[in-house]
Amino acid sequence: MKVLVTGGTGYIGSHTTVELLNNGYEVIIVDNLSNSKREVIDRIKEITGKTVKFYEIDLRDRNSLEKVFIDNKIDAVIHFAGLKAVGESVKEPLMYYDNNLNSSICLCETMKKYNCKNIIFSSSATVYGKPKSLPITECAETHTTNPYGSTKLFIENILSDLYISDNSWSITLLRYFNPVGAHSSYLIGENPKGIPNNLMPFLVRVATGEYKELSVFGNDYDTVDGTGERDYIHVVDLAIFHLKALEKKYNSKELNIYNIGTGECNSVLELVKCFEKVNKVKINYKIVERRPGDIDSCYADPSKAIKELGYKCEKTIKDMCIDSYKYAINNKNTN
Ligand code: NAD
Ligand code: WQD
Repeated sequence: MKVLVTGGTGYIGSHTTVELLNNGYEVIIVDNLSNSKREVIDRIKEITGKTVKFYEIDLRDRNSLEKVFIDNKIDAVIHFAGLKAVGESVKEPLMYYDNNLNSSICLCETMKKYNCKNIIFSSSATVYGKPKSLPITECAETHTTNPYGSTKLFIENILSDLYISDNSWSITLLRYFNPVGAHSSYLIGENPKGIPNNLMPFLVRVATGEYKELSVFGNDYDTVDGTGERDYIHVVDLAIFHLKALEKKYNSKELNIYNIGTGECNSVLELVKCFEKVNKVKINYKIVERRPGDIDSCYADPSKAIKELGYKCEKTIKDMCIDSYKYAINNKNTN
């Protein structure tokens, strides 16, 4: 089976590509390299011993994208490509709406034209905004608090409307919680350009000495120790969920939504302590003001995905801390 992976040189896309190749799928990657590097393609080959076809294309470039569908008989698409920084989306909303929405529309139109009607889309727990109750089920209300989140919800709506218009599509919306960690080869992982927005990549750079200390955003939340609680999921478990979704839902002709998290949560300080212990490093931190828009606590009810996709996360929070750090040490000074 030929799978088009958009955003396949990115963090989650590259890990999913490895799982697909290891399970006998042919992979074609489209990425404009706006937030990733070409060398990821070589690293995927080093890990798997297999080659992927790579097209450096912006998904909004309709003619180039059509050529990909003409050159390759694509059976299914996993759509990761998009911009993902919440703060940047508040400053540059038009850039986010243009990139994320127009690339998704262009992709779906091209899929329709070439009769490829299977898509798995990278959505996010951000569509739940501030949840009314925990753990969060797929039925929880959705509402967004920033342009990035709105693009995710709009794309979900576009795909839902597409399904209503033609229910021969198979559409799977995966709402990820907080992906961290790296592949056990430490050849691929998360290496954001510039100053990281997310906790784990920042923590890792404090551990490697690149930054002096971590700012902990608030310690007066209604949580176990006052710091924010999140559902961290290892990126390899997350990648395997895509494989399972492809296996189970390829022929379903349904629209399905799944929460992809572990169902457990850790506070910022719990994560810091675990990181220090398993990696034997000291993390300097200071408590600062809350970050605007942050919520107390957020974790998934993952039971629907476990039951229907037939997989349960295997990696622990310790694995996540070890793998994130080892990847960073192996790739220091490459961001
Ligand atoms: P990433 O930035 O590492 O990967 C996204 C890739 O898409 C990048 O390689 C980038 O170059 C590419 N891209 C962006 N716009 C493009 C365009 N117009 N045309 C072609 N390529 C384009 O991000 P990631 O962490 O791997 O996230 C993958 C997806 O998962 C994103 O859609 C993101 O919104 C979603 N998601 C991520 C997280 C997270 O915390 N990492 C959580 C929930 C959802
Ligand atoms: C986790 C916790 C912070 C950085 C974001 C997006 C969400 C999704 C995942 C894409 C919070 C605290 C953080 C720091 C800190 N992405 N923190 N110091 O906010 O749960 O989710 O990434 O869809 O849409 O909003 O993740 O890693 O930024 O924060 O104290 O330097 O760490 O306050 O409690 P978040 P995060």
